[in-house]
Amino acid sequence: MKSLRSVGIIGTGSYVPERKVTNFDMEKIVDTSDEWIRTRTGIGARHFAADDETTSDMAAKAALKAMEAANVTADEIDLIIVGTLTPDMLLPSTACLVQDKIGANGSAAFDLETACSGFIYAMEVGRNFVATGMYNKVLVIGAEKLSSFLDFEDRATCVLFGDGAGAAVLGPVEDGKGILSSELGADGSKGMVLKIDAGGCKMPASEQTLKDRLHYITMDGSEVFKFAVRIMGSASLNVVEKAGLTLDDINFLVPHQANMRIISAAAKKLNLPLEKVQINLTEYGNMSAASVPVALDQAIREGKIKEGDKTVLVGFGGGLTWGACVIQW
Ligand code: ACO
Repeated sequence: MKSLRSVGIIGTGSYVPERKVTNFDMEKIVDTSDEWIRTRTGIGARHFAADDETTSDMAAKAALKAMEAANVTADEIDLIIVGTLTPDMLLPSTACLVQDKIGANGSAAFDLETACSGFIYAMEVGRNFVATGMYNKVLVIGAEKLSSFLDFEDRATCVLFGDGAGAAVLGPVEDGKGILSSELGADGSKGMVLKIDAGGCKMPASEQTLKDRLHYITMDGSEVFKFAVRIMGSASLNVVEKAGLTLDDINFLVPHQANMRIISAAAKKLNLPLEKVQINLTEYGNMSAASVPVALDQAIREGKIKEGDKTVLVGFGGGLTWGACVIQW
């Protein structure tokens, strides 16, 4: 779609819970090793939220930081979109809980579930509201408390994920800046490779579902891996082309943080050395929808993304889904 107004990120914020759990800590929980986790994934640690800390708590903290960076008050927020696969509750939405926590009482609010692609999807939805002039300031958030949905008896999944939240405020920007191009995609035929079986209407919570451990994330790791390597590369190249740019124009990459080997493959497709890629899975693991916005906020605060830069954001996730965009700062 040709934007009526140019839309960009005018402030970012993130929050990661205090409790750090290293691979050595995981060795005490499941039959794994720091060496296995590091060499297969690149992950060295993850942070888990406190027992009484929820996805909306973390989302609200990240949101307030983003609003401060954007110099925007709660009254100015027109819409809140939360990308999450780990909502506080099935009803009400996490976005409504966040709205109440940050005092953005005049805003619309809803959740969007595209797993790890959640933030990039939320950005694109928010962008369209601002582009058409319907809204001026949209708060987009990726937030997850995955630790509540991990099976700590399944070493193939529980070592991969962490908790956290990242946020961005979208608003109109001067022409030629902001989000230059984007791509969203989904392949529902592969939905069952990454799933939580029970808790929905197909299999409501029961004594049996609890006994069968069906409320946790399960994954066909190698299928997800193959999909991720393919899609991260092709989606990145597509958005560069759609923006009318060449690879030489791209200064920096902010990828979803699932696996170092997947990130390296995407960087290679874009001809970028790893110094030009934000990597935080070493410390935080895969925070699903929170991975991209936390990495983006870190890159901005660390001064790695500067005025005039062109950055690719790219992610993939359950659904299966994917999303990418090019941002001109
Ligand atoms: N510690 C030690 N051994 C392990 C562990 C562990 N934590 N997990 C699995 N293994 C074992 C397996 O049991 C298997 O043993 P076997 O050969 O005796 O059966 C062996 O290690 C190899 O397992 P593979 O699954 O083949 O290992 P692989 O090299 O494929 O790596 C991994 C697995 C890291 C999960 C990889 O497939 C991957 O990164 N996939 C993508 C995952 C991903 O991105 N998920 C997030 C999706 S985003 C979202 O929307 C939530």
